[in-house]
Amino acid sequence: MSEPAVRRVLPADAEAVTRLIERAIRISTAGVYPAEAVEAWATGRTAEAVRAMIEVTDGFVATAGKAVVGWANLDGDEVDQLYVDPDAGGQGVARRLYETIEALARANGLDQLRAVASLRAEPAFRRFGFREVGTDQVAFNGLPFTVVRMAKHLDRPLPDQAVVRDGRGRDVAGHGVKSRRNEMPIPLFPPSRTSPWGSVVT
Ligand SMILES: CC(C)(COP(=O)(O)OP(=O)(O)OC[C@H]1O[C@@H](n2cnc3c(N)ncnc32)[C@H](O)[C@@H]1OP(=O)(O)O)[C@@H](O)C(=O)NCCC(=O)NCCS
Repeated sequence: MSEPAVRRVLPADAEAVTRLIERAIRISTAGVYPAEAVEAWATGRTAEAVRAMIEVTDGFVATAGKAVVGWANLDGDEVDQLYVDPDAGGQGVARRLYETIEALARANGLDQLRAVASLRAEPAFRRFGFREVGTDQVAFNGLPFTVVRMAKHLDRPLPDQAVVRDGRGRDVAGHGVKSRRNEMPIPLFPPSRTSPWGSVVT
């Protein structure tokens, strides 16, 4: 695989992102959760719903040539989505996406990030500096999943560090940080509008 590039996600990426999420769940979480739970998580997601999520959150994709091989987004102070195509796994794509998200969070003035990690993603979030806050049983399409609530404290950046760069050092956010977020105070631990997880059941 050629070195993936990271760029802002576009509404036109919705179909590719939807397929990527399904593949990542089916292949990369097989054996982590029971097969019927994996299938329940992987199915029922429409490109329209993904497009709506793209439009209201700050998202990025990793691309290799024209292929979308990774996707992640920031919703308030939550790293809400982090998916990498299994064929591109284990090569630092998730780290590159995460670092872009963290740079954006710092540029937005956030002093912490949260994530609700699958058991598959939890080791990666630990490597990114997150600590466990607790575990939950959540429902997705009626089936239970154990997930890990995680958080990372961010030191405030110096003003000239508040630039979002991709893995090649280019500024990928520019002035495109979703402006309403800059204008609104960001509450601590707001409810996620787009979480892939269903309601907490225990
Ligand atoms: C979890 C996932 C995003 C990781 O993507 P990836 O591109 O393979 O991850 P990376 O190669 O960037 O690895 C990131 C770091 O986590 C570490 N890591 C990843 N998986 C790991 C594992 N199973 N055990 C231990 N460490 C792991 C890597 O060693 C790496 O550490 P480093 O950067 O300090 O060297 C990907 O497997 C995926 O999409 N999983 C299925 C969907 C999912 O669960 N998404 C999260 C929903 S909350």
